[in-house]
Amino acid sequence: MAFQTKPTELVRGKETSFFHPIAIIGAGIGGTSAAYYLRQKFGKDVKIDLFERGKVGGRLATITIQGQEYEAGGSVIHPLNLHMKRFVKDLGLSTLQSSGGLIGVSNGETLVFEESSWFIMNIIKLIWQYGFQPLRMHMWLEDILDKFMRIYRYQSHDYAFSSVENLLHSLGGDDFLGMLNRTFLETLQKAGFSEKFLHEMIAPIHRLNYGQSTGINGFVGAVSLSGADSGLWAVEGGNKLVCSRLLQASKSNLIPGSVMYIEEKTGTKQTGNPTKMYEVVYQTGSETRSDFYDIVLVATPLNRKMSNITFLNFDPPIEEFHQYYQHIVATFIKGKLNSTTFSSRALGEFDLSTILTTDNSDLFINSIGIVSSVRENNKPQPSTDGAFVWKTFSPEILTKEQILKLFLSYDDSVKQQWYAYPIYKPPEKCPSIILRDRLYYLNGIECAASAMEMSAIAAHNAALLAYHRWNGHTHMIDQEDLYEKLKTEL
Ligand SMILES: Cc1cc2nc3c(=O)[nH]c(=O)nc-3n(C[C@H](O)[C@H](O)[C@H](O)COP(=O)(O)OP(=O)(O)OC[C@H]3O[C@@H](n4cnc5c(N)ncnc54)[C@H](O)[C@@H]3O)c2cc1C
Ligand SMILES: *[C@@H]1O[C@H](CO)[C@@H](O)[C@H](O)[C@H]1NC(C)=O
Ligand SMILES: *[C@@H]1O[C@H](CO)[C@@H](O)[C@H](O)[C@H]1NC(C)=O
Ligand SMILES: *[C@@H]1O[C@H](CO)[C@@H](O)[C@H](O)[C@H]1NC(C)=O
Repeated sequence: MAFQTKPTELVRGKETSFFHPIAIIGAGIGGTSAAYYLRQKFGKDVKIDLFERGKVGGRLATITIQGQEYEAGGSVIHPLNLHMKRFVKDLGLSTLQSSGGLIGVSNGETLVFEESSWFIMNIIKLIWQYGFQPLRMHMWLEDILDKFMRIYRYQSHDYAFSSVENLLHSLGGDDFLGMLNRTFLETLQKAGFSEKFLHEMIAPIHRLNYGQSTGINGFVGAVSLSGADSGLWAVEGGNKLVCSRLLQASKSNLIPGSVMYIEEKTGTKQTGNPTKMYEVVYQTGSETRSDFYDIVLVATPLNRKMSNITFLNFDPPIEEFHQYYQHIVATFIKGKLNSTTFSSRALGEFDLSTILTTDNSDLFINSIGIVSSVRENNKPQPSTDGAFVWKTFSPEILTKEQILKLFLSYDDSVKQQWYAYPIYKPPEKCPSIILRDRLYYLNGIECAASAMEMSAIAAHNAALLAYHRWNGHTHMIDQEDLYEKLKTEL
């Protein structure tokens, strides 16, 4: 191919630009980490433009209530999310440990499970109520996490995958990939877990983390459960800081604007040969502008409601993906909880700081819990009148009456709406990563599971994939038996 040359300097008037400019659409954790990894692979001379129509951070965002900032989108990070960990370290950011208060599960009338502050008591209670199922669940999860961790090895050796399916298959074969084909419920029933345990312990966790129940696929179910592990952390000052720092470190060029079209164009470069380029048409303020790129990475969910990007003049046309996203409202309320809404217990005796809910509760919320601001490293403290800041997730916007049902009194409330993560309906068919030669899509990975680390993994993969395909390194893509190969390489 004519453009498979090393980046060459090109002087246009007084401006110096470089050959093969790259466009990334979306400055969330996916887009900004892609910029960072692309810079590592393609070197310092390549021009990288990053388009963002909203705020840098995307689904990582904070909201302010009574002068304090709180995580309104992606909030907790697992201790074994190595890309996120690495970013924080390399970019000079600090971490906060999630302060775990006591958790209870309500069915709307009473608490079906309740933690106590006495560790041994919790173990006894768990065994009493569910036998050894929590322990077995833990082991099941360890095994999946173990396999999942293989991705870091592959990526540190620069291996890339051309599809989400190939990536998952390389981690743990057919069984691992097969998790996308079955619901979490089917997977666990098959493994002999009881209805009661699934209903009272597992479904409430999925409702908290994905606003959905045990009908989600097995893989996202495992990711969701790992969101209930210990050692969870967040970034001091807000997780979104990772995005702005990655953007800075990548030395890419942020273009505030909304991309409307991506069009395939045939043009000529200075060699005189016809080459295919992508024209990115975007709206910035009231102006419509466009630029040409050799490589384009789409780092936002492709659907009408969310990114609303149209692909023009592709032959054959680029298929429309029908990934639907779950509508979730995060509401922050400063007030005093009316605990009788969740339990029959007298008011003074209620010391839970997070309440999850079972599927059959008629409650209009999925969860509610006390939160710390993005600057507090210890347990949240009540204000002098005993009020805390509570965060609740609900499928719809809460009415004032609903808030008054949850609280004895409240001073203030703010909310943020999201199309948060895919609505999971296994069997999942994941969208392609390679939409066309040199046109890549990162967010297809959310079909397996949506999380910050998943977007970072997709970004690393897409950067490697773009680089290897550009340079014709086919042996670095979709290698079979990578795990065995790398084992003997040491
Ligand atoms: C309420 C909530 C709670 C969550 N909790 C967690 C959690 O605890 N832990 C965890 O790991 N994950 C969590 N997640 C998931 C996590 O936040 C996401 O998976 C991750 O942030 C997705 O990042 P992304 O960069 O792939 O996409 P996004 O963050 O959505 O970034 C896409 C960006 O593209 C921009 N964009 C879209 N269309 C265009 C266009 N046409 N032109 C220009 N720009 C465009 C958008 O404005 C956006 O900034 C949560 C998500 C939500 C919503
Ligand atoms: C998952 O289901 C699809 C059909 O929906 C099938 O083509 C595929 O082979 C299945 N994959 C696995 C690993 O079971
Ligand atoms: C999508 O963009 C088109 C123009 O490109 C606009 O007419 C339409 O209203 C947009 N749809 C949504 C849901 O934002
Ligand atoms: C608290 O909630 C209970 C049950 O919903 C209700 O009966 C009671 O009146 C509420 N208390 C206050 C002070 O609002």
